[in-house]
Amino acid sequence: MHESSIKIAVLPGDGIGPEVLAQAVNLLQLYGEKKSLDIQFGFYNVGGAALEKFGVPLPADTLAGCRQADAVLLGAIGHPRWDTMPSDKRPERGLLGLREELGLYANLRPAKIYTGLVDASSLKAEFISKVDILIVRELTGGLYFGHPRGINESQTKAYNTMLYTRFEVERIARMAFEAARGRRKKVTSVDKANVLEVSQFWRKVVMEVAAEYPDVMLEHMYVDNCAMQLVRNPHQFDVILTENMFGDILSDEAAMLTGSLGMLPSASLGNGTALYEPVHGSAPDIAGQNIANPIAAIASVAMLMRFSFSDDAEAECLEEAIAKVLEEGYRTKDIASEKSNMIGTKEMGDKIADLYAAG
Ligand code: IPM
Ligand code: MG
Repeated sequence: MHESSIKIAVLPGDGIGPEVLAQAVNLLQLYGEKKSLDIQFGFYNVGGAALEKFGVPLPADTLAGCRQADAVLLGAIGHPRWDTMPSDKRPERGLLGLREELGLYANLRPAKIYTGLVDASSLKAEFISKVDILIVRELTGGLYFGHPRGINESQTKAYNTMLYTRFEVERIARMAFEAARGRRKKVTSVDKANVLEVSQFWRKVVMEVAAEYPDVMLEHMYVDNCAMQLVRNPHQFDVILTENMFGDILSDEAAMLTGSLGMLPSASLGNGTALYEPVHGSAPDIAGQNIANPIAAIASVAMLMRFSFSDDAEAECLEEAIAKVLEEGYRTKDIASEKSNMIGTKEMGDKIADLYAAG
C-alpha cells in the first residue's frame, strides 16, 4: 500500500455492474474515512460499455489506469447486443484481456453460507448450513487462453487448446495449499485425468507441490464427480483447486449453495495489481431497477481490504456487517423469502454501510 494516496481503478462495466459497484465504492470510501486514508477513485470503461464508446472492449486508457492503481474493482461484463460478434468484439474479451495483461493467474472464490440465509438456497438446510468452500481457480491458462484456437476459413471445424505449463500449475497449486493452511487444511484438486493428458500432467505436478505441504491433505477428484458432490455433500470441501474452465463452471454451482449468485465475491491475484469483482454476470434483464444484490460486490471490497491492504480486521468488520443485515431479515429480491424484508440495491448497500461505519 502506498504511503500517501491510494488509487483504486473502478470499472463498472455492463448491466447491473454500475449499480452494485456504486455500493462497493461507497463502502470503500467509508473505509478511507475510518482509517484516514486518501483513497482516489478513477473510473474507466470496460466490456460492452467500452465497445459502445470506443469500439474496443479494453481501451488502452483503461488498462493503463488499472496498471497504475493499487487495486481494481470491477462490476460485471456482458450484454446480449454483442452476442453474435467475433471474440475480439465481445465484452467478455475486456475482462479476459485484463486478466491476461495484469497477470491475474489466481482467482479466489469463497462460497460461504451466512447464518440466516440457509432458507435462500434451493438445497435443504441440513446439507448447506456449514458450507465454507474456497475455490482456487487458475485464471490465465487452459482452454480460455491456449493456442492454437479458432474456426477454419471454410467454417467446417473449430478448435481450442487446453494447455498448461509446469510453472502455471505449480504456482496455482501453491496458492491453494497456502490458502488451505489458513483454513481446514484440505485441498481437493479437480481434473479430468481419466480422459485428458493435460489433467494427468496437472495431477502429477499438484502431487509434487503437495510434498512441500505435508500438513495439508490432498485428494483428487474428477470434475464430473465434483459437480455431483457439490450438491450431494458440500461439507466435504475446504479448498477446491482447479483449472480455468472447470473453475468457471464449478464456482457458479458453488454460488448457488449460498442461495444466490449475487452473494459470491472474488479476488483475482497475480504479481501486480489485484482485481476484485462479484462472481455474477451483468444480468441485463434486471439492470437499472435497483433490485440487484450488491452483497457480492461489497464482499469483494472485504477481499480487497484483506489482500491488497492486509487489513483483516476491517475485512472482518465489513463481513460481519453483511451477516448482521442478513440476520435482521433484510434481503434483495434474489434471496428473499416469505419472512424477509425485501429491500433494493441501494437500501441494502446503505444498511451494510451504516453497520460497517458503526463497527
Ligand atoms: C467469470 C465469468 C467470465 C469467465 C466471463 C465473463 C468471461 O463467467 O468470471 O466466471 O468465464 O471467466
Ligand atoms: Mg463464470
